[in-house]
Amino acid sequence: MEQKAFKRPFVNLFYVFFLSHLVFCQLDYRFYDSTCPSLTMIVRYGVWSAIANDTRMAASLVRLHFHDCFVNGCDASILLDDIDSTFVGEKTARSNQNSVRGYEVIDKIKANVEKACPSTVSCTDILTLAAREAANIVGASYWMVPLGHRDGRTANKTAANELPSPFESLDNIIAKFNAKGLDTKDVVVLSGAHTIGFAQCFTFKQRLFNFGGSGKPDPDLEASLLKGLQTVCPDQVDSDTTLVPLDSVTTNRFDNSYYRNLVNSSGLLQSDHVLSTDNRTASMVLSYSRYPYLFFKRFWSINGEDGQHWCSNGTRWGDKEELQSSQLDA
Ligand code: HEM
Repeated sequence: MEQKAFKRPFVNLFYVFFLSHLVFCQLDYRFYDSTCPSLTMIVRYGVWSAIANDTRMAASLVRLHFHDCFVNGCDASILLDDIDSTFVGEKTARSNQNSVRGYEVIDKIKANVEKACPSTVSCTDILTLAAREAANIVGASYWMVPLGHRDGRTANKTAANELPSPFESLDNIIAKFNAKGLDTKDVVVLSGAHTIGFAQCFTFKQRLFNFGGSGKPDPDLEASLLKGLQTVCPDQVDSDTTLVPLDSVTTNRFDNSYYRNLVNSSGLLQSDHVLSTDNRTASMVLSYSRYPYLFFKRFWSINGEDGQHWCSNGTRWGDKEELQSSQLDA
């Protein structure tokens, strides 16, 4: 089976500065202007109606995009289903299974795009636009995204199992971002997406009852939030999948309240909280909590212009069914 090239930081820099537009990704802000002029409108309508039906879907689409891009670049491989024993996709990876949502929204948009512009638009570009539209609909400013991503023909469950976990140390998380050509600042900025969406109790419960094996709650967790969380997520297995907002102040709004929460010891995940206490990241948290514009600006630039970071060198434009059936021949 064909291997996708894995980006190393130095390769990344080389391509980003010198060759990205020419050879590697050939991305362009106006990529579909003539071949599929209605694309953005179709995606926006699809995302808008999904969110109208389920507010949380905005967050789920942003996360779906991140979980795709963090594993071998943005290539829509996260959308591929397992096929019996012949093809193993990423949907069943640790951080994705029973957690990542929004696949069916992308499938539906893709079907509508196919009707308007058959065999033209990659699934990756649809996913990229859907994440941008979702964030914008719930309050993020609009950023331009370069398009023309190719869809991968393989998936990598092993790499998907290594997506950052809330139980990991900041050192580990930073190392994982570094391996993608992203730095500590990017960890802080991209984690700001936790200003929307929900987490299951099991992802932070250790902070509520037995922090670090102490038999006590995390002393850093703000007292009234702790009390509320202990009620919603009691120390028993059947509360593990109960959902709690990542940002309890403005749950469905893409703003900088995530950072204000961190400063007020009200971050939910341990991996979020640590950003406000570690001396490599605390000053950034403080400035994003005070100056929302700084956060937005950096968030757009990682996802927009610098989105080239996320490129994959997949082999062709894809149709999910076609891609899926190609797995059988690979
Ligand atoms: C830095 C390391 C990160 C860790 C450890 C992490 C971990 C998590 C966890 C544990 C959840 C809850 C999942 C569940 O309970 O099923 C979650 C949700 C979420 N994450 Fe992250 N995440 C990280 C970075 C990111 C990034 C970079 C983005 C996007 C740019 C992102 C976007 C989201 C969103 C929007 C949700 C809510 C999804 C929903 O409600 O469906 N996360 N994350």
